[in-house]
Amino acid sequence: MVRGDLMPALRALLGLTEEDGKRLAEYADVVRPWGETFVDALCEQLQALPETEAFLPPEKRERIKQAWLNWYNQVLEGRVDEAFLRLHERISLLHIKYHVPNGLMFSAMSRLQQMFLEHSLRTFSTDEALALYTAFKRITDLSAALIAEDYFRNALLAMERLAGVRASLMGRMLDLEIQRLLDEHQAVQPSSAAA
Ligand code: HEM
Repeated sequence: MVRGDLMPALRALLGLTEEDGKRLAEYADVVRPWGETFVDALCEQLQALPETEAFLPPEKRERIKQAWLNWYNQVLEGRVDEAFLRLHERISLLHIKYHVPNGLMFSAMSRLQQMFLEHSLRTFSTDEALALYTAFKRITDLSAALIAEDYFRNALLAMERLAGVRASLMGRMLDLEIQRLLDEHQAVQPSSAAA
């Protein structure tokens, strides 16, 4: 799980406060029913991309949609507690298991936030919609940060256990290898700028 000592920094950078949690909980009855529309749209958008086929096999889609919906409803409770952290650790483990790239997860989160903003602007006054969207964005950005952090930490932990080496030794081995990769990167001059 994400180290407890990182949480204050994540919250501070995101600007996430108790007020955001309260605002989400206050609007939960109105925005909860949007969840099904969001997960259906997200699944359809992902399904349309050949790159995601392996991660969303047809026999799993309904289960994944239900899992996303449960997560959405939990987010709307606006509580960042032990249960919230444990859920995100589990998501990271499942995403590692099925090799879901973090880039896809971040992009899906962004799409979900965009849909939430569109619905909010259609439903509430601009000021109200922006305040609600900001609360939603902060807490779902925290979700994405936790999934990505836990993904890295748990993948590393699994490798440490498999290799049977202590974390400190694994850390030193990684530092050496990363330096090699940095040197290789430095040695290669791009022939043209990437598109
Ligand atoms: C908005 C970003 C995402 C969130 C919040 C999220 C959330 C979740 C949740 C809550 C679960 C289930 C945890 C449980 O069983 O308790 C899960 C599992 C899973 N997710 Fe994601 N996910 C996201 C993005 C994605 C993307 C982009 C893909 C693939 C294209 C994906 C593929 C999967 C898969 C394959 C599982 C395992 C399902 C199973 O077999 O149980 N997720 N995710």
